[in-house]
Amino acid sequence: MEIELQLQNLEARTLEAIAAAAELSALEAARLAVFNKTSGSLTLLLRGMKSVPAEQRPRVGALVNEARDRIEAAVAARRQVLAGQAQQAALQAEAIDVTLPAPPLALGRRHPIMATWDDIVRIFSNLGYAVVDGPEVETEYYNFDALGIDPDHPARDERDSLFVGSNLVMRTETSAVQIRVMEGREPPVQVIAPGRVYRRDDVDRTHSAIFHQVEGLYVAEGVSFGDLKGTLSTFLQQLFDSVPHSAGSGNSALQTRFRPHFFPFTEPSAEFDVWFNGRWLELGGCGMVHPKVLENVGYDPEKYTGFAFGFGIERMAMIKFNIDDLRLFYDNDWRFLSQF
Ligand code: DAH
Repeated sequence: MEIELQLQNLEARTLEAIAAAAELSALEAARLAVFNKTSGSLTLLLRGMKSVPAEQRPRVGALVNEARDRIEAAVAARRQVLAGQAQQAALQAEAIDVTLPAPPLALGRRHPIMATWDDIVRIFSNLGYAVVDGPEVETEYYNFDALGIDPDHPARDERDSLFVGSNLVMRTETSAVQIRVMEGREPPVQVIAPGRVYRRDDVDRTHSAIFHQVEGLYVAEGVSFGDLKGTLSTFLQQLFDSVPHSAGSGNSALQTRFRPHFFPFTEPSAEFDVWFNGRWLELGGCGMVHPKVLENVGYDPEKYTGFAFGFGIERMAMIKFNIDDLRLFYDNDWRFLSQF
């Protein structure tokens, strides 16, 4: 019978197409070519059932059902194979070849700011200084009043300092630690206080709203301005020991300079500079601790004298590593950081 032949052909072609489908999408196309409700080859064939004599129809119908079942089974089997292959390929794409040599480990490095911090601490430790810490959120008393910074000083304006509550300010300088240290003990006091400070500054090549300072304090009997100069000169000499561009001319020793200045908590006060790349560069402030500050912490200014100094770590690191833009320190760009 013609319809039976057609059915055999249809099944044979379809099973071939199913076996040949290399991807799930091709398999689905082969399936629809047979079963599509309007244009599928089996759908079309069933329309021809009308011409089959009535007594033959049950037998032919059963043949059609069997053929359909076999095709569907073949589709299901092929689908499983293709899905398995796809999964395998995905696994292989991310598979680890354990025989490959391990990629090199990128070791971290000390940040240039922290390396400079460490250098500074080492040098002052050798000079007999202990390292102390203080809070970054400071009361107005420690940050300003006790240091002789009076209420109408610009630093106490909200445009210059970051206040975090009534009476609380992000410390604008590490000098506040001086007071906390002296309050807690009797002279001799010989400390440095490295740490972070905060200013309401716009960020540019030489300014940052957050930066690092080191405060130094030495109070005892008979401490003089000469001691201050000697201490800072020795420190700078050692810190910039290995910096070629800091030397005055030829291979002469590092040149330092002290210029008279004003700070509310020291008297007399000075700023200190180094000769760097053909000009004087300001590094920090210093002076003899003001008698009022000594009185504020309960020391007898007739008996004790002392000196204090403060400077920024960023500035020191810029000189040490010959860097002209402080923002590089905070970008955390590995190409920059890996040079140190
Ligand atoms: N605190 C000052 C500043 O941030 C630096 C300073 C100057 C610290 C003089 C001192 C000092 O201890 O005596 O500009």
